[in-house]
Amino acid sequence: MKKAQPRPKSSRRAVPLPVIPVRPVVGRLAPYLAPQEGRAGKLRLDFNENTIGCSPAALRALRRMTSEQLAIYPEYEAAKRRLARHFAVRPSEMLFTNGVDDALRLLMDTFVEPGSAVLLPEPTFTMYRFYAEIAGARVVAARYDAGMRFPLEEILRELRRSPRLLCLANPNNPTATLLDEAALARILDAAPRTLVLVDEAYYEFSGVTILPWIRRRANLVVSRTFSKAVGLAGLRLGALFARADLADAMRRACTPFPVNTAALVAAEAALQDRRFLQRYVRQVKESRWHLAQGLETLGARVFPSAANFLLVDFGPGGGRLVRRLARRKILVRDRSGEFGRDGFVRVTVGTPAQTRVLLRAIEEEW
Ligand SMILES: Cc1ncc(COP(=O)(O)O)c(C=O)c1O
Repeated sequence: MKKAQPRPKSSRRAVPLPVIPVRPVVGRLAPYLAPQEGRAGKLRLDFNENTIGCSPAALRALRRMTSEQLAIYPEYEAAKRRLARHFAVRPSEMLFTNGVDDALRLLMDTFVEPGSAVLLPEPTFTMYRFYAEIAGARVVAARYDAGMRFPLEEILRELRRSPRLLCLANPNNPTATLLDEAALARILDAAPRTLVLVDEAYYEFSGVTILPWIRRRANLVVSRTFSKAVGLAGLRLGALFARADLADAMRRACTPFPVNTAALVAAEAALQDRRFLQRYVRQVKESRWHLAQGLETLGARVFPSAANFLLVDFGPGGGRLVRRLARRKILVRDRSGEFGRDGFVRVTVGTPAQTRVLLRAIEEEW
């Protein structure tokens, strides 16, 4: 994954400029550094992935794949029919994408022109801004306040100017906050000429979805991912849902084979193993409560969460804590860069056993 991380100054190399001119918007992009490698085997609480791995049923299905299946270009129709049934939509209302990242690029390619306005609440998933900037869009941002409250009035005001696209993660990353249906309805009503992406990457943990609204809302696109609860981040699979007319437009701009065959095989098997998924989600929700309690007892400020992660304010010393935990092979994510001061750390919630290990380490290192 190429999640945004500022390149540390020390590792910046003087790269010669290419002879071929680079698009100015690309030249202006903040430099990104791929996330740290070698995370396997560590306590991975830094990318909101599934912390125990995907369902064994998905692995078995992958092992049953034949070499011919790998030799053939992906065929989507049958899998799409079955997955559409799972999501209770029509196949014409659904597109597979190479993770939500790829879905964002497709949205930009289909709807956003250079100079179009893209409205974002911030902080939010950094890839919204990344793809909007690559598309040459003008990003308009409304800030969450210090209590991590969503800037609803400002967003409603900005919608009067009809930006081309509004991206909302629900629950939001990194604040972990959730917009209720009433707020989402107000936003959609206020956006007749704006496409609204509601990114439900953490739906399994929040239980709140407006996916069924796609039929009656001409301005709504919903995204889901298999990278989080389902545990298939390495295979890169996401989905976009929208009314057939919007979906058709996106299909025109889509690459012919955005998703590989193995991803679909594993995804179907993983979804069929409902018990595994339900058990994992239940464990994470239980742990979320215990982790929040434990951290508050230690004196940290924890923001309410509807996702599989907590945003925690450790105050001064938060950055040092992140580094000390990493030495103990516990990875959490320092998000202070987005809040203007040290202390804000995003912690993925794992199982109760993983939570006990984490809490003990924080107690010793903070
Ligand atoms: C809100 C949100 N959307 C999408 C993603 C990425 O999803 P994918 O792995 O499908 O690209 C993330 C990952 O951190 C996220 O936080």
